[in-house]
Amino acid sequence: MAPRFNLDGSEIQPLKICMIGAGGFIGSHLCEKLMLETEHSVLAIDVYSDKIQHLLEAGKPWSKRIEFHKINIKHDSRLEGLIKLADLTINLAAICTPADYNTRPLDTIYSNFIDALPVVRYCSDNNKRLIHFSTCEVYGKTIGSFLPRDSPLLRDPAFYVLKEDESPCIFGPIEKQRWSYACAKQLIERLIYAEGAENDLQFTIVRPFNWIGPRMDFIPGVDGPSEGVPRVLACFSTNLLKGEPLKLVDGGKSQRTFIFIKDAIEAVLLMIENPDRANGYIFNVGNPQNEVTVRELALLMTQIYCKVNGGSRPEIPTVDVSSKEFYGEGYDDSDKRIPDMTIIKRQLGWEPKTSLDDLLESTLTYQHKTYAHAVRQVMSRSHAAI
Ligand SMILES: NC(=O)c1ccc[n+]([C@@H]2O[C@H](COP(=O)([O-])OP(=O)(O)OC[C@H]3O[C@@H](n4cnc5c(N)ncnc54)[C@H](O)[C@@H]3O)[C@@H](O)[C@H]2O)c1
Repeated sequence: MAPRFNLDGSEIQPLKICMIGAGGFIGSHLCEKLMLETEHSVLAIDVYSDKIQHLLEAGKPWSKRIEFHKINIKHDSRLEGLIKLADLTINLAAICTPADYNTRPLDTIYSNFIDALPVVRYCSDNNKRLIHFSTCEVYGKTIGSFLPRDSPLLRDPAFYVLKEDESPCIFGPIEKQRWSYACAKQLIERLIYAEGAENDLQFTIVRPFNWIGPRMDFIPGVDGPSEGVPRVLACFSTNLLKGEPLKLVDGGKSQRTFIFIKDAIEAVLLMIENPDRANGYIFNVGNPQNEVTVRELALLMTQIYCKVNGGSRPEIPTVDVSSKEFYGEGYDDSDKRIPDMTIIKRQLGWEPKTSLDDLLESTLTYQHKTYAHAVRQVMSRSHAAI
């Protein structure tokens, strides 16, 4: 491979990366990028490896550079040794599905705070660099959500654009257990920041804003539990694959910005290879141009899926469900999430490229090719059983 250079013109040297949560959605894309386009090596830690199986098969040109360790970081003494072996640790491991936040708040808090603690401590004790994955949910609700609906201030970006170094973190009451995730992520961010300030930990914190693409979550009953509730992309994909109306929680009025996983992974690679520009920073990684309400997302996905599978639009495209019915007691939501991109643009010169239409078309093409046949089989089996 020809030499590669970082943003300051220095030749990039191969790194050994300990990647925890490497078998998940983001981890699988990051491993793929590292194997196909760089000389870095990965110690891949996860309890699952299905999403990176194609990279682990013997005989690949990168086979010597990726090693899978089936480890649950909750209780495994091998973790510190692997962190010590690596130049850099990337922690992606988490329970990070909204359906779990209010129904499994203890597991959510343990996963996002307690289980991440030893990772931070081992990096700090052994002077190893850490890239930790947090979330845009740490911002909680916008200041604008507390204004009257007809307030002219709602048009002022100061009331809704989310800035890493200025915006407050606004969560709901403790009874709204939805905030268990955001709160645990916020506390681990504060701990990492404090380790940086007091013990010189070299860290970067990533706040993803709705990264989506192939391999995100699972299709219930096909490659995940039939009663499971994945994140919105997989929920809507499941409805489309089954030809049923898309379920809109509380009218689908929440606003979100979606970014294509491949654009976001470019940003992570820049963080990996430009430590002098990334250390000590918290980065929003999202696409402020791709904002839609969840209702608009549902309609757009329906339209694009019809194009992908050559079918016609369903008669009833959406149905409304209450959040209590869909997610259970204790659910709440953030109203709007637009990332400010000033810091990442200044430090890493990075900007997202892919439009919402394009990212949905490539993702739904993947979903259709991967799942349409299996979903038809599952549906015909369940009809036969009636
Ligand atoms: N995808 C997004 O848009 C998004 C948004 C906000 C935050 N994030 C954050 O990014 C990170 C990765 O997200 P993702 O979308 O890839 O999620 P994911 O669920 O697909 O991947 C997480 C991986 O961590 C593994 N894991 C969890 N607990 C573990 C444990 N105890 N030991 C070993 N492995 C464990 C899981 O098996 C899974 O493979 C998470 O920290 C998440 O909070 C992602």
